[in-house]
Amino acid sequence: MIKQIQQKFHQELKDLFPEKEINTFLYLLLEKIANLSRLDLVLFPDKKLDEKQISQFEKALHRLKNHEPIQYIIGETEFYGLKFIVNKNVLIPRPETEELVDWIIKDFQNFSDDFSILDIGTGSGCIAISLASKLKKADISAWDISAKALKTAKENAEINKVKINFQQKNILGISANFNKKYEVIVSNPPYIRELEKKEMQSNVLAHEPHLALFVKDDDALLFYREILKFAEKNLTKNGKLYFEINEYLPEEMKELIREFKVKKYEFKKDIFGKYRMMKIQF
Ligand SMILES: C[S@@+](CC[C@H](N)C(=O)[O-])C[C@H]1O[C@@H](n2cnc3c(N)ncnc32)[C@H](O)[C@@H]1O
Repeated sequence: MIKQIQQKFHQELKDLFPEKEINTFLYLLLEKIANLSRLDLVLFPDKKLDEKQISQFEKALHRLKNHEPIQYIIGETEFYGLKFIVNKNVLIPRPETEELVDWIIKDFQNFSDDFSILDIGTGSGCIAISLASKLKKADISAWDISAKALKTAKENAEINKVKINFQQKNILGISANFNKKYEVIVSNPPYIRELEKKEMQSNVLAHEPHLALFVKDDDALLFYREILKFAEKNLTKNGKLYFEINEYLPEEMKELIREFKVKKYEFKKDIFGKYRMMKIQF
């Protein structure tokens, strides 16, 4: 019965998570495993589950105790109102990245000509795919070094019925002499320093791909430098480069862009008032 599952989850997770969060886990799992809503839990608490469903709940409970993010357990998440498949090969898209996407959409929604966008380090494809869903005139390419991430990103593009040109590429050491120009280059590259690890939640550290997250303490802006070099040569005349940035490093970003012929730049804070985004024009 579903009420027994509910009791068991609360009993076994109460020392690990707040009650509200346990309820959220339950609602998401009920929907995914048994196609039932939170209202069903109230109206039909005695509803029976079959053996397969009970075993799926048991497995999910075990994974939650192991601090695995619920998004990996149910295998999906929502980003910018769209559904995305997620697994251990891709970072779980974050709300601050939705703000970055929103910034680009607002800047380009009235653009009347066709234009092209490049998303560097696409992961689940969340940035490229959300942009494609709103900016119909955009021709969008997306790169990642990880073949496994790209496989998931391609599935996400199919689910969301958009066309993206995905390519496996390593941005470090890519030649700046490229044969295409973009109106927009966007990137949320790896930017967390090893020294920030100790303040991170254990569920992120243990389960999310380190390739997507970490950089060395002594060269934290490595990806930004390489992307700036590339963008300086491969943006159109009025093209724009958008970055998600490390909230602790806006000053270092200012310092870095002095190495380039930057015409204009702008920082943007997220809803929590932290410097999280940047727009640069050459
Ligand atoms: C912070 S994640 C961002 C993922 C996604 N764009 C998002 O916003 O959720 C960084 C991504 O960069 C990719 N990446 C790491 N090193 C790379 C490299 N040298 N070249 C290209 N992509 C790389 C990782 O595989 C990961 O998918």
